[in-house]
Amino acid sequence: MHTNKKAKRPELEFWDRVASIYDERVILHPPPMMHEYELWEDEQLDLIMWGMIENKTIFLEIGSGTGRYLTRYGKQMLEKPEFSANLLAIVGIDFSEEMIRKSIINLKAAHLEKLIGRRIFLVRADATNPPISFKKPGLNAIQKIVAIMFGTIGNIKKGRQNLLRYLCSNLLNTNGIGVISFFNRHALTAKGGGLEDYSLIPEIVGTPLQWNPKNGIVTTGKKFFTEWFEYETFAKQIESVNLEIIQRLEGPGPKVPKVFRLPLWSKVPRGYIVTVAPKNCSLRETVNRISKNEKISISPEKLFQKMLVCPKCRPENSDTLVFKSTEISCRQCGTRFPIKSINGVRVPDFLKTKKV
Ligand SMILES: C[S@@+](CC[C@H](N)C(=O)[O-])C[C@H]1O[C@@H](n2cnc3c(N)ncnc32)[C@H](O)[C@@H]1O
Repeated sequence: MHTNKKAKRPELEFWDRVASIYDERVILHPPPMMHEYELWEDEQLDLIMWGMIENKTIFLEIGSGTGRYLTRYGKQMLEKPEFSANLLAIVGIDFSEEMIRKSIINLKAAHLEKLIGRRIFLVRADATNPPISFKKPGLNAIQKIVAIMFGTIGNIKKGRQNLLRYLCSNLLNTNGIGVISFFNRHALTAKGGGLEDYSLIPEIVGTPLQWNPKNGIVTTGKKFFTEWFEYETFAKQIESVNLEIIQRLEGPGPKVPKVFRLPLWSKVPRGYIVTVAPKNCSLRETVNRISKNEKISISPEKLFQKMLVCPKCRPENSDTLVFKSTEISCRQCGTRFPIKSINGVRVPDFLKTKKV
């Protein structure tokens, strides 16, 4: 047997490298505008969660990082009866093993150890080819909230459109709502935000920043990549994959000079949160289709196994994965994926394959 070893992708190397300082510099003590935006994101996602938690729900975060939302809603599972009863599973996908390691440390520090592997699950995988599908028998009646937060969508360079398409066809098409938070290109040039606040965290982005005002792409010599979008341009990308924007929220933001009218400075949103669902399926209809009294008899662990799908052969609607203690194999294409122990937690690794 051999394990498939490929050179690490530069963007993966970047996220692995920043995992140990990410919390300190981006979450706990970030530049002021970043902090303000994060608090706003927390508030908005909480409102969405609270508005929907009366139904049985799975929360999936794509690019879950150091576990900001896994921890937040894990705590609610312990503290709030609505979350305890209805938030069946929290799942985080990230391609960076070091980010996953940090998220496990954070979950444990928040006293959520007993929920890991039981109601909180981690998966190492590429967001552009997620090994999760909700288009499976037995998952229809459960509402899904799929979040892509804090500009993660802009960090994904290749395959972003694939991810959006897949979001529509396999993650949101049965009672799902997507929540995407992305940064505004016009905030990049604003006073006190954008490039200014990014350059306050040189350990992470490296210096100098290269920024192309025409396409909103910010990169550095150290492989950092992020794209900040013009709202209309990104809205078109979303709509082109048959997703509909149900709600648009404008985040707090820095100031830009107003050219002709007083006052001389005006605020531009640093970013936006959009709530999306497949076209012809409004939020209200989605929620109404779910029977509130439906009994979900399957355990969260089985539910988690049921949502996993082979990212190599992608069988439609069927369960082809076989679960063993150290690996997951696909009955259809024969691919084997290791289950890694990261800080004592079993994490399926869909970036590595084992072939006999
Ligand atoms: C800006 S951080 C956001 C982390 C977290 N969502 C938060 O709000 O704090 C982006 C995260 O996305 C992950 N990521 C970037 N590209 C990815 C990809 N192609 N597949 C999976 N994860 C990815 C990174 O490893 C990182 O953890």
